[in-house]
Amino acid sequence: MDTAPCRPVSRRYFLRTAGLAAGGAAFLTACSTRPRTPRLAAERIQLGVIGCGGMGNGNAEGFMRQADCRVLAACDVDQNHLADMVKKVNTQYSNQDCRGYHDFREILARTDLDAVMIATPDHWHGLIATAAARQKKDIYGEKPLARTIAEQQAIVRAVQQHQRIWQTGSWQRSSASFQKAAEIVRGGLIGRIKRVEVGLPSGPGNLTMRVPRPAETPPPELDFDFWLGPSAKVPYRSFQVHERWRWNYNTGGGQLLDWIGHHCDIAHWGMDCDRSGPLTVSGVGEFPPADAAWNTCFRYRIELQYPKNISMTIAGGHSDIRAGTKWIGTDGWVWVDRGGFEASNPDWRDFKDLPEELRKVHLYTSRDHHRNFLDCVKSRQPTITPVETAHHSAIPGHLGLIAMQTGRTLNWDSQRETLLGERDAAALLGRPFRSPWKLT
Ligand SMILES: NC(=O)c1ccc[n+]([C@@H]2O[C@H](COP(=O)([O-])OP(=O)(O)OC[C@H]3O[C@@H](n4cnc5c(N)ncnc54)[C@H](O)[C@@H]3O)[C@@H](O)[C@H]2O)c1
Repeated sequence: MDTAPCRPVSRRYFLRTAGLAAGGAAFLTACSTRPRTPRLAAERIQLGVIGCGGMGNGNAEGFMRQADCRVLAACDVDQNHLADMVKKVNTQYSNQDCRGYHDFREILARTDLDAVMIATPDHWHGLIATAAARQKKDIYGEKPLARTIAEQQAIVRAVQQHQRIWQTGSWQRSSASFQKAAEIVRGGLIGRIKRVEVGLPSGPGNLTMRVPRPAETPPPELDFDFWLGPSAKVPYRSFQVHERWRWNYNTGGGQLLDWIGHHCDIAHWGMDCDRSGPLTVSGVGEFPPADAAWNTCFRYRIELQYPKNISMTIAGGHSDIRAGTKWIGTDGWVWVDRGGFEASNPDWRDFKDLPEELRKVHLYTSRDHHRNFLDCVKSRQPTITPVETAHHSAIPGHLGLIAMQTGRTLNWDSQRETLLGERDAAALLGRPFRSPWKLT
C-alpha cells in the first residue's frame, strides 16, 4: 500500500458527515459486493467524485448530464465543499443516494463504484490515482497528470498494470477546432514542422502580497493536515489553499504546470509526440521575492529541441509568443486557441471539421470529453487522452521548471524517461513525501 494506513475518521468529522454518509455500515455493505465487470452499452456507470472544488463541480455536472452515469459518492476534506456536492447530486437525481466521504480510501474501497473522477489539487494526484488503479477503478483524472515526473510515472505504471481506463481532463482534444488544427499539421498541409510555439498565461498578478504573521487558524470545516497530505507541513494561510494552492510549489506548479496539459497537449497532438518528447530543455524564469505569498514563476520562457530538428518555445508573459498553440512548417502555419483559429491558408478557418479531401490523417474524434470516458469504460478501448498522453504532454513543463530552477540545459531520454548526465536525476524528477504518505 503506498498510502498512509487508513486512519479512523475523527469523531469531529464523523459527526459532521454523519448526515451525508452512513459511515462504517455503508462501507462494509459496499465492500461485501462483488466487483462489477465491463458492462453493456445501456448499463449505468457508477461514479465517485474526489475533490469537490471548482473543477470537481464542473466535472460532476458533466457526468450528471449523461443518462448512463450515476454519481453515487463524493469525497472532500473540506466539509462545506463536500456537503454542497452531496446536496447538488442528490437534488439532481431527486434522491438521497449520493454519500459523502472524508477519506478517499473509503470511496476507493466501495466495490459498487466503477470509476472515480479525481479533481484534487496536484499534490494529491499521484497518491489517489495509484490507489484508485489498485482498487480497479477506471479514472477520469485532472491535468497535469501529477506534480512531478516521478509521480506521473507511478500513475502510468499503476494504470497499465491494473488495466484501467484513463481519461485526462485535457478536454481541448474533444473540441473541433483543436482537432482540425492537429489534423492539418499531422496531415503535412503546412509541410515539415520547423517550430512550435506554446503560449501560456503569466502571473498570478499580485506579487506585492507578503506572507502575514502570525499564521491563520484553519476554518473548522477544513481538515488542513489532510488537505496538505504528502506536501511539506506549512502553517495554514487561506490564500494558499482553495484554488490558490497552484501558486506555491508545495502544492501546485504555477501557470506553467496549470496550462501545460492544455496547450502543450495540443502541440504534441499535432507533432505526433504522444509517446515521445524533447531532447533538450533550457529555460529562464522570474520568481517572486522570498517573502511573497506565492512562489511560482510568474514570467517564463522555455526552449526545447525535439527530434526531426523541431524547436519549441513554451512561454508565459512574452509578447512574441501568442497564447495558444502555433505550428510553423516549411509550407505554412496554424494557430489555435480556445477563442480562435488562424492559418496561413485562410480557407481552413471556415471549416468546422476538415473536409475529407484534406484529411490526410483521421485523428481520434470525441466531441464530449465526459461522454468519451464513459464510452471507453464500457468498450474498454483507450480514451482520447489516455494516461500515457497526459504523461508526455506534461513532461516539457516539468522539465522546463527544473531547467529554470537549476539554471541547466537538460538532456532528456524520452524512451528511458530519465535525465542524461545528471548525477541527481532521480532527486530532480521526484519530491519527498511527508510521512506517513508514501508512493511506491
Ligand atoms: N481541465 C481543466 O480545464 C481544469 C480547470 C481547473 C482545474 N483543473 C485541475 O483540477 C484540479 C483541481 O483544481 P480546482 O481548481 O478545482 O481546485 P480547488 O481548490 O477549487 O478544488 C480542489 C478540491 O479538492 C479538495 N481536496 C484536497 N485534498 C483532498 C483529498 N485528499 N481528498 C479529497 N478532496 C481533497 C479540496 O478541499 C477542494 O475542495 C487540479 O488538478 C487542476 O489542475 C483542471
